[in-house]
Amino acid sequence: MKKSTALLVLITTVVCMFSGCSKAQENLQNKEESISDKNILIVYLSRTKNTKAVAEIIQKNTGGLLVEIELQNPYPTDYKMIVSQVAKENETGYLPPLKTKIPNIEKFDTVFVGFPTWGMQLPPPMKSFLKEYNLEGKTIIPFNTNAGYGIGSSFQTVKELCSKSTVLKGFSVKGGIERDGILFVMEGEKEKEVQTEIKNWLKKIGLGKY
Ligand SMILES: Cc1cc2nc3c(=O)[nH]c(=O)nc-3n(C[C@H](O)[C@H](O)[C@H](O)COP(=O)(O)O)c2cc1C
Repeated sequence: MKKSTALLVLITTVVCMFSGCSKAQENLQNKEESISDKNILIVYLSRTKNTKAVAEIIQKNTGGLLVEIELQNPYPTDYKMIVSQVAKENETGYLPPLKTKIPNIEKFDTVFVGFPTWGMQLPPPMKSFLKEYNLEGKTIIPFNTNAGYGIGSSFQTVKELCSKSTVLKGFSVKGGIERDGILFVMEGEKEKEVQTEIKNWLKKIGLGKY
């Protein structure tokens, strides 16, 4: 074989190898996307992990990407201190900056947003999240845990901050009562009850996949 022919064969082989490889990669990516429930995002804020447990139950039933909201400057661990800080933030409208970044939010069309009730309101970090990201045209689904005093104005605030989204009927359940030293409660019988309630709610809003 002439030197120039050998070179041509080599170049062709290398080009084929690369194009074959990129095709295979493309196929793999498509496959991964189709099996990973690419369009559901579950964003949640949780201090004592009750809302986190609800978020995880939702994810088991719908699939999707689970993302915890974290702050650049975490809240104090002391209960009285966080209560007074949150009260001040609610009064002044301060939006705490988030450490969590979601670079590809546009690829999600359904966004669950989960949070505890804080001071009978939507917690400031959730206000930060809803103001930071463009959720126009998406379906937003709020969920909540609280100490038994309910959602307060939180679901209404989600609606107001997502005025260009479709906001579906939310889910709320009693969680911990940190004031009385009752922290994580989503275990045993309580967890089973909550699982059933969540499945029924998801079915009602048309998102019970499995
Ligand atoms: C700063 C702060 C404020 C709270 N305010 C309320 C409230 O106004 N009403 C209520 O029912 N529970 C309130 N709680 C209790 C939480 O909503 C409840 O314990 C919830 O389940 C905690 O969720 P988590 O475990 O995901 O953090 C408050 C808790 C904290 C830390």
